[in-house]
Amino acid sequence: MTRSHQLFGWFILTAYWLPAAFAHSSIWTPAMYGFNVTTQTFPYDNRPVAPLKNMAFDQWWFHNHLDYPPNSGDTFELPAGKVATAEIACNKGATSFFASSDGGDIRNPANPNDPCPGSPSITYHTQGLDDLMGCALGIAYMNDARQVKPEDFTIFSVNQTCVFYRFTDFAVPERMPPCPEGGCTCAFFWIHSPKSGGEENYMNGFKCNVTGSTSTVALAESKVARRCGADPPNNKLQSVPGNCTYGAKQPFYWKNLEQNNMFEGDFSPPVYNDLYNFLEGAQDDIFKDSYISIPDPSPVAPLPVLADIPQSTSSNTTSSGHQDCNHTDTDSEQASTSGQGSNSTTTHIARQAAYRFGLFTSSRNRHFGAH
Ligand SMILES: *[C@@H]1O[C@H](CO)[C@@H](O)[C@H](O)[C@H]1NC(C)=O
Ligand SMILES: *[C@@H]1O[C@H](CO)[C@@H](O)[C@H](O)[C@H]1NC(C)=O
Ligand SMILES: *[C@@H]1O[C@H](CO)[C@@H](O)[C@H](O)[C@H]1NC(C)=O
Ligand SMILES: *[C@@H]1O[C@H](CO)[C@@H](O)[C@H](O)[C@H]1NC(C)=O
Ligand SMILES: *[C@@H]1O[C@H](CO)[C@@H](O)[C@H](O)[C@H]1NC(C)=O
Ligand SMILES: *[C@@H]1O[C@H](CO)[C@@H](O)[C@H](O)[C@H]1NC(C)=O
Ligand SMILES: *[C@@H]1O[C@H](CO)[C@@H](O)[C@H](O)[C@H]1NC(C)=O
Repeated sequence: MTRSHQLFGWFILTAYWLPAAFAHSSIWTPAMYGFNVTTQTFPYDNRPVAPLKNMAFDQWWFHNHLDYPPNSGDTFELPAGKVATAEIACNKGATSFFASSDGGDIRNPANPNDPCPGSPSITYHTQGLDDLMGCALGIAYMNDARQVKPEDFTIFSVNQTCVFYRFTDFAVPERMPPCPEGGCTCAFFWIHSPKSGGEENYMNGFKCNVTGSTSTVALAESKVARRCGADPPNNKLQSVPGNCTYGAKQPFYWKNLEQNNMFEGDFSPPVYNDLYNFLEGAQDDIFKDSYISIPDPSPVAPLPVLADIPQSTSSNTTSSGHQDCNHTDTDSEQASTSGQGSNSTTTHIARQAAYRFGLFTSSRNRHFGAH
């Protein structure tokens, strides 16, 4: 073995086994719990980027950072119908908030979007662009994070290219209602590919607030998401739309000792993408009035019936870039939506959602299955 081979081997080993300085990932915002937590703060490495596994509830919930709240007034804004840009990085020094990082500014001048300067992507658990599993933001309409329980969170935005870019856009559903006084409680959730390191969970809480609301309809009660998309690595070639959870869905709580809601094995982690009906972008169907009926999911269940909700004209849905549905040939395809008076001159959120969620009978199979 040449010296460079040895060095390379050593490097791979350290990337896997000694990821103390630069590894893993988290969202970074002054509105987060644990913003200034370092390797020294806890008796164990409880930096926001440290993964969560085999932990008791208090230790993993909010990353055990509830005693490290943001400064008052620091809130992450969620503009309804628009995009919220978050910073995601393996080290605070790689973000705009480097000034309060132990190691100072380590941003990559050649690539401001680099989430982990100087480290290969395996340190943030991806083999590359075709190995990304998505991350998500959840919200609880409660101003006191200590009152929030796991089932109070609803995933409202998904970005399936997480955690590849430091600046990651999250499309906020247009119909998000206003938060209570004092704001809402949010969290970042991520589970990485099984090809890229040991199985583990990520959760970071932060204070958030919806701005520019045009609707007051509350979110529906969130349900546990089911594995329903095509899953070729596990020999499931077709999606099974009747088996999906539709509407408001809870985050995944996986691989800890208490209060898990997912029990998937090591090589089939639950992930925030089409495999669990977490489609890219704003989750537009999470409201109490989004559906007329949602049958209990099963491989043979009928598909749910979406309500036909007119879109407000006062704000733009420029957010996800995935609502480019085709209005010219839709009327004959509305078999599973309620609206019989579908109007080619009117934009209907339900119709957009139906396209994205594959609920038109004739396009049922088009939008399922992880790519
Ligand atoms: C984090 O540390 C910085 C620098 O010391 C300080 O200005 C800021 O107030 C701290 N934030 C929190 C939430 O403790
Ligand atoms: C996901 O984030 C990337 C990087 O910021 C962005 O290019 C993409 O548009 C985002 N997706 C959505 C649906 O916002
Ligand atoms: C949340 O946003 C609303 C609407 O802009 C605003 O009235 C309210 O003061 C904000 N609350 C917090 C805690 O920032
Ligand atoms: C249906 O979903 C359940 C729960 O996630 C999963 O265990 C099962 O494999 C899925 N079945 C099919 C056929 O998709
Ligand atoms: C909606 O989009 C149009 C064209 O992109 C823009 O001119 C207008 O200002 C936007 N309106 C709002 C409320 O954002
Ligand atoms: C809309 O439908 C027309 C005719 O079927 C097709 O040519 C066009 O590509 C479609 N556009 C989108 C955005 O799907
Ligand atoms: C369809 O549009 C026409 C013209 O704008 C309007 O008069 C009618 O009420 C609309 N119908 C429905 C079902 O929205």
